[in-house]
Amino acid sequence: MIKKNKFPVKIEEDILLSNLTTFGIGGPAKFFCSVHSNEELINVALLTKKRKKNFLILGGGSNILVSDSGFSGLVIKVENDKISCQKNKIKANSGAKLAQLVALARKKGLSGLEPYWGIPGTIGGAIVGNAGTKDHWIDQVIEDVTILTPQNKIITLNNQQCQFGYRTSRFKTNQEIILKAVFNLKKEKKDKIEKKQKTFASLRTDQPKGKSAGSIFKNPPHFSAGKLIDQVGLKGKKIGQAQISNQHANFIINTNQAKAEDVLTLIRLAQKEVKEKFNLKLEPEIKFIGFAKSEIADII
Ligand code: EPU
Repeated sequence: MIKKNKFPVKIEEDILLSNLTTFGIGGPAKFFCSVHSNEELINVALLTKKRKKNFLILGGGSNILVSDSGFSGLVIKVENDKISCQKNKIKANSGAKLAQLVALARKKGLSGLEPYWGIPGTIGGAIVGNAGTKDHWIDQVIEDVTILTPQNKIITLNNQQCQFGYRTSRFKTNQEIILKAVFNLKKEKKDKIEKKQKTFASLRTDQPKGKSAGSIFKNPPHFSAGKLIDQVGLKGKKIGQAQISNQHANFIINTNQAKAEDVLTLIRLAQKEVKEKFNLKLEPEIKFIGFAKSEIADII
């Protein structure tokens, strides 16, 4: 049992995670708190680890599917959003919004973050999933990332040590907590930056606006997951209130009050049909939260 009064922040119980994810899906967090600085984040994490409590760091909730039964440990929502600029570098805490970072870079006449205009989520989330477009990934402008290790040490990793890849990093599967990152940018005229931002944003105009988790699957090498799912005729396929988008087949939309179970059914269906027709495996890009390993073993 968590001793709530021992924590430096308020601990709440049974907070619905569907309200904290862009998918609008997910049961309650058994325990929940928000942290507003790195100091609070570190202190909460240390206490949680000491008691060996299961915990989850939640950013913008934009790339995850939370199970209908929720999360049985402590959810720590990061709102440590301090961000500052010095010369051509921006230092941002993990809870800052990606949009904040992109806006500050534009204001300061710093180029390199234009592809990420309009992508939801926090810096921490963007680092974990190496957010980006088809050709640009956020790690291309990351100098270093400071973390709290599972052994409770604060260390700074250079770009290489973060093991970035297409929509992945070492943080996707380990228990390290991202505290902050430094972005290395280039001086540029503001109107050029704005123009570039608009060009990149135009690549996303065919993406649906409904409640979703962004792309469900990674693109298999040399293929587009959306095109493959489209080609097996699954656009518009609905299970319960979850639907494969009519607009872009790599998006699943929560049309009203979809269940995580419905989303899993659609994921399995897309994987099965694409495997049968093209002999390609569709690997999920999203993270699954609160599921037993056995519930999702066949998907990931
Ligand atoms: N297509 C179809 N049918 C569909 C969807 C797409 O035929 O239902 C075709 C498109 O016409 C296009 C091709 O497939 O010829 C590729 O589609 P798109 O240009 O939309 O790019 P994408 O590969 O689906 C990637 C990223 C997006 C990023 C866009 C724009 C992945 C999995 N997706 O999408 O990232 O916004 O490029 O740069 O890498 C995300 O990761 O969450 C995400 C949204």
